[in-house]
Amino acid sequence: MPSAPAPSGPRRPGSPRPDSWWRSAAIYQLYVRSFADGDGDGIGDLAGARARLPHLAELGIDAIWFNPWYPSPMADAGYDISDYRSIDPVFGTLADADALIAEAHAHGIRIIIDVVPNHGSDRHPWFTAALAAAPGSAARARFWFRPGRGAAGELPPNNWQSIFGGPAWTRVTEADGSPGEWYLHLFAPEQPDFNWDSPDVRREFEDVLRFWFARGVDGIRIDSAALLCKDAALPDVTGAEQPGPAHPYTDRDEVHAVYQSWRAIADDYGAGEHGAGEHGDGEHGDGEHGDGEHGAGEHGAGEHGDGEHGDGEHGDGEHRERMLIGEVWLPDPARLARYVGPGELNTVFNFPYLNCPWDAAELRRVIDETLALNAPLGAPATWVLSNHDVDRVVSRYGRPDTSFSLERRPYFHGLPVDLALGTRRARAAALLTMALPGSVYIYQGEETGLWEVQDIPDELRQDPIWDRTGGADPGRDGCRVPLPWSGTEPPFGFSPAGAAAAPWLPQPKEWRELTVAAESADGDSMLSLYREALRIRRSVPAFAATSLSWRPAPDGVLAFDRGAEHVPGSTVRCVANLSAVPVELPPHAAVLLASGPLDDGALPPDTTAWLQAH
Ligand code: GLC
Repeated sequence: MPSAPAPSGPRRPGSPRPDSWWRSAAIYQLYVRSFADGDGDGIGDLAGARARLPHLAELGIDAIWFNPWYPSPMADAGYDISDYRSIDPVFGTLADADALIAEAHAHGIRIIIDVVPNHGSDRHPWFTAALAAAPGSAARARFWFRPGRGAAGELPPNNWQSIFGGPAWTRVTEADGSPGEWYLHLFAPEQPDFNWDSPDVRREFEDVLRFWFARGVDGIRIDSAALLCKDAALPDVTGAEQPGPAHPYTDRDEVHAVYQSWRAIADDYGAGEHGAGEHGDGEHGDGEHGDGEHGAGEHGAGEHGDGEHGDGEHGDGEHRERMLIGEVWLPDPARLARYVGPGELNTVFNFPYLNCPWDAAELRRVIDETLALNAPLGAPATWVLSNHDVDRVVSRYGRPDTSFSLERRPYFHGLPVDLALGTRRARAAALLTMALPGSVYIYQGEETGLWEVQDIPDELRQDPIWDRTGGADPGRDGCRVPLPWSGTEPPFGFSPAGAAAAPWLPQPKEWRELTVAAESADGDSMLSLYREALRIRRSVPAFAATSLSWRPAPDGVLAFDRGAEHVPGSTVRCVANLSAVPVELPPHAAVLLASGPLDDGALPPDTTAWLQAH
């Protein structure tokens, strides 16, 4: 059972706190559609998540990151949001979210939610208003509407391609029925990009942040965080541009001002200046911006006031410190580090680590590079093995090529997978990852060793990537299959008995061996390993150290110490054997945990051990 969050009292905004919860937290990524179905419709929901909070408390995590839970037409599984201040009916209600936040806090678990600022849904009231309005109108200025090229405007305004495949522009039909302007969508056509040059857009998202912070949310995961700002001239891309100031839409410098303003808001809440009752609707809604501006008339005063919810419910000081984590995919680590500069995001996801092959030298390079870039900024590293966009780690590490990149997913899916080898390596990787200084993210199902489901029938695939690439890219459904909880056949306790519908994606029958119930009863299971590792990581003081010291080790082996070298017995050494032969363990007082059985005292290939030093 996690201990209660440490109090975080008032402080100077921006001043670093070495003990901040997000610096070392173990954060569980809860993909709500696939976690647990409370009402039997085959889709996970907040009732299901609430019912399973004890499982997460027992796992020993510090926080949950929820993928988007907002009202959405679900063109991209909820990353197309039509209302940023409510909950999609398929997941529950705002009251369910409030209850969930409160219950999680009672378990000592913090809540991080996903905010998607780059784009909304084509059903967002602002976008439907923009469609109804004329070219050049204020309503269209919140998005990127442009006339087409060609004699009759029949060609897109530029050559940008959607990240999901196909052109990044869609042509609209004007109110009079004539073919009209085009709008930009870096993802699916149902996800129009907001124009971050618009003051309305900036104000709106600041207000959305306040709305959720006031309800007790502890952190925000920022989707597609490097894409918000565009070169307003919308030039063609040549393909040679690197992300950065010269790129028309990736990692432009202007984006940092957005996050500086967001950090100020997060710090403001973290400083405890917002007591109960202070966040009335005067601040969030009608008083300042008016319904018309939110474009969501249904959010009238009185619905969201803190009199009803918000900080008043969560005590004072206990859950206050807020954090921001950015989803920033950038090849240049120095550019990535800019996002965690002074007064900006608290952390960013470490995708170089996720993409790294199972190779000691490569991993060491990424670990060193990560620590070297973060340390001078006072920012903690994050360590991520998987998420809802990438192939599951067991499958990745079971392939002859253990690296990963989103762009090359079709190639990876063509490779054979050795699940036993992948599982062994995933166990070793879990202990390596959890021994590193910083915070760690665990994607649901990672803790039970689920694999990528690569044989989903085509007609059941849901990811827009599949459709938009004409089936060339299988997309991300294979890592989003609903979790197996118990029993010996689908739905494996994902939905209640007698559920009206099957799980939204089919579960492999072999997952009967990977249910939470089966693994809870097996001391050697992946789940038992994760529970024990998280318990040790939380309780052994050496893991609180903010740095590591590498130790000499044979080729293919990573060895490092955590803890205070000058205090005898306080050091924990992590040894990960990625080589093909067993290696002798260094002298030690005790083996705290190992990812697999030792071989006559030696550490077998693809195994990690945590050792207590003498
Ligand atoms: C992020 C999300 C991904 C989503 C995309 C568009 O990359 O993680 O799931 O499809 O943004 O919002």
